[in-house]
Amino acid sequence: MGYRIAVAGATGNVGREVLSILAERRFPADEVIALASSHSIGVEVGYGEDQTLKVRELAAFDFDGIDIVLSSPGAKVSAEHSPRAAKAGAVVIDNTSHFRMHPDVPLVVPEVNPDAVAGYRKRGIIANPNCSTIQLVTALKPLHDLSPIKRVVVATYQSTSGGGKAPMDELFNQTRGIFTNQPVQKFQENFTKQIAFNVIPHIDVFMDDGSTKEEWKIVAETRKILDPDIALTATCVRVPVFIGHAEAVNVEFDGPVSEDAARKGKDHGLRQIEIFVRGPGPGREAAMEKKRAASLCFCSLSISSVGVPCLVSDLIFWSRPERLASQTSISIFRAFTCGYRALRCSSS
Ligand SMILES: NC(=O)c1ccc[n+]([C@@H]2O[C@H](COP(=O)([O-])OP(=O)(O)OC[C@H]3O[C@@H](n4cnc5c(N)ncnc54)[C@H](OP(=O)(O)O)[C@@H]3O)[C@@H](O)[C@H]2O)c1
Repeated sequence: MGYRIAVAGATGNVGREVLSILAERRFPADEVIALASSHSIGVEVGYGEDQTLKVRELAAFDFDGIDIVLSSPGAKVSAEHSPRAAKAGAVVIDNTSHFRMHPDVPLVVPEVNPDAVAGYRKRGIIANPNCSTIQLVTALKPLHDLSPIKRVVVATYQSTSGGGKAPMDELFNQTRGIFTNQPVQKFQENFTKQIAFNVIPHIDVFMDDGSTKEEWKIVAETRKILDPDIALTATCVRVPVFIGHAEAVNVEFDGPVSEDAARKGKDHGLRQIEIFVRGPGPGREAAMEKKRAASLCFCSLSISSVGVPCLVSDLIFWSRPERLASQTSISIFRAFTCGYRALRCSSS
């Protein structure tokens, strides 16, 4: 017997990816229910190659009998409906920011801290971190196992998809508007500055200390998932691309790490995380290695091992790993990562 699954936020970027991954991976589901706001009642969303689901209203939905809820309708909406679903007996996997730092809710990236899942029993909710955090901690984990990480400095290059559908439309409309001599302000709702042909070091609200909430999230979530003692500095920047986040990462270890050991180490090492392969896949790692040899760097539009652009892959790509300094006591490496945020957060 399969599960009864509800996908809240099913018409959004994340929800649509969730539906497509459930179908693609043949998740054992007896029933999948698509939920969104009242505006979307009756709208059809794709589930697999040839099925569609009619959207129902989240606020009016009774979760009784539902086994799993995959929730991404925004933080405020999740705050209300995820506990309601958990109370009805469902295990809720919540993609929004609302529950991430709650002490009774585990914050989980399956490849990094799978054991933390056990803590879900307290609230019935498992939180999924911010997309930039997922990309970062997935890459840092093997390094941290190799030698404790002391400090991380990360700068992100985040696509407009990170804000949802509307910001992606804003990038499209502004870009087109500029080419057709229309005022940018006509298409400016989601970003504080023009996003077309610009980069904006402002994601989410500003905090009292001058950082943004997005930057705070990366720091706080990485510490909760990986290690509360890691010192982190993050600068989060929105860039005018539609999908695919990238990060420039500088990692300082507590002790010396030889580049050779890091690159060649069998169980731990940079070689393993240069291209992080999610899950077993015949020939995938070898193919990635071959691809890496032919290309000095990956970016969102690179072609992945499985012959498709990184944008539609669930891998996280590491390139340009480089040792910056090594003293007897510390080692510093830097690298560049990229991944498709909606797909990564949905498949986590
Ligand atoms: N964990 C991660 O890595 C990660 C990554 C990206 C996003 N997220 C989070 O996931 C959430 C969604 O992101 P997104 O990119 O998918 O946004 P999006 O494309 O804007 O989609 C928002 C979804 O929420 C639904 N919704 C909005 N208000 C609702 C309401 N009152 N009741 C029921 N449903 C409502 C929308 O339904 P309608 O179409 O009916 O309005 C739509 O399905 C955000 O909280 C975001 O922070 C998490």
